[in-house]
Amino acid sequence: MKEFECRKKERLRDIEKLLERYLPKEEGYQKTVLEAMNYSVRAGGKRLRPMLMQETFWLLGGRGELVEPFMAALEMIHTYSLVHDDLPAMDNDEYRRGRKTTHAVYGEGMAILAGDGLLNLAFETAVGAFRLARGQEEYERTARALEVLARKAGVQGMIGGQTADVEAEGSAAGEMTMERLLFIHENKTAALLQASMLVGAILAGADEGTCGQVGECARLIGLAFQIQDDILDETGSLEELGKPIGSDRKNAKQTYVTLKGLQEAEAQVESLSRQAMEIIESFEGDTGFLRNLIESLIHRRK
Ligand code: IPE
Ligand code: IPE
Ligand code: MG
Ligand code: MG
Ligand code: MG
Repeated sequence: MKEFECRKKERLRDIEKLLERYLPKEEGYQKTVLEAMNYSVRAGGKRLRPMLMQETFWLLGGRGELVEPFMAALEMIHTYSLVHDDLPAMDNDEYRRGRKTTHAVYGEGMAILAGDGLLNLAFETAVGAFRLARGQEEYERTARALEVLARKAGVQGMIGGQTADVEAEGSAAGEMTMERLLFIHENKTAALLQASMLVGAILAGADEGTCGQVGECARLIGLAFQIQDDILDETGSLEELGKPIGSDRKNAKQTYVTLKGLQEAEAQVESLSRQAMEIIESFEGDTGFLRNLIESLIHRRK
């Protein structure tokens, strides 16, 4: 595990460097929004999505730089989703990644624009992969990867899940079924994790069957990840998490924890993660890092 921690630190450092290359210069009359965009991306975070994308790409035989613009793009989309999620009109939270949220520092208008800016920059960045693609095959993979990214981030993915999440606010326990909660988790959270791993797989040239397994694995990781997020909203701390606890209670959200209780929620995180690890183990090649990464998420405290 110590070796895994070292490797993870290295990966994280490389991802930070990579992100930095794609961040905009803070200049011109739009300087303020550019500052707000960089403020939210530079605040850190686990960088789980680019890490999963790169690992999947490597595991399935991908080599070279083609994946890099997509790694940056996905972290930009994820960060924009957090900037908007924290807005007063949504979860109304004041801390994120250990610092004041973007709207708390730059104002609501600027935070909305910074989110919009990050979303557009993400696609501008990802489209840049065409310049790195060599040959018809890589061109086609890049186009397919872009399509998956756009779909999973949109109304058939993250935005769709956030919509259902917002509409479920204040609903009584009886109104929130497991089916509805599953829809929320699959979309608001698992969709971007699926985008991460699927883009990695597609760019590596994985066949349809493999992509299906990768998508299912990411779905399981995503469900476990959101249940753990809901657990930490009850049992974590601002210091550890870098974001306020009790946000769900404040917004009268029904979560896995309110529906099933803490114990069952913890058991479910473990079970979903083990299922995801089984899929990873079925792949040939060095699956060690990915397996350890998924395992480390089971008991994560941030
Ligand atoms: C937070 O995501 C939003 C959820 C989907 C639960 P992360 O927990 O990955 O946030 P960062 O990127 O590490 O800040
Ligand atoms: C949000 O879920 C997932 C997103 C798409 C941003 P939460 O609202 O639970 O995420 P946190 O707890 O604020 O990070
Ligand atoms: Mg939310
Ligand atoms: Mg939130
Ligand atoms: Mg949460």
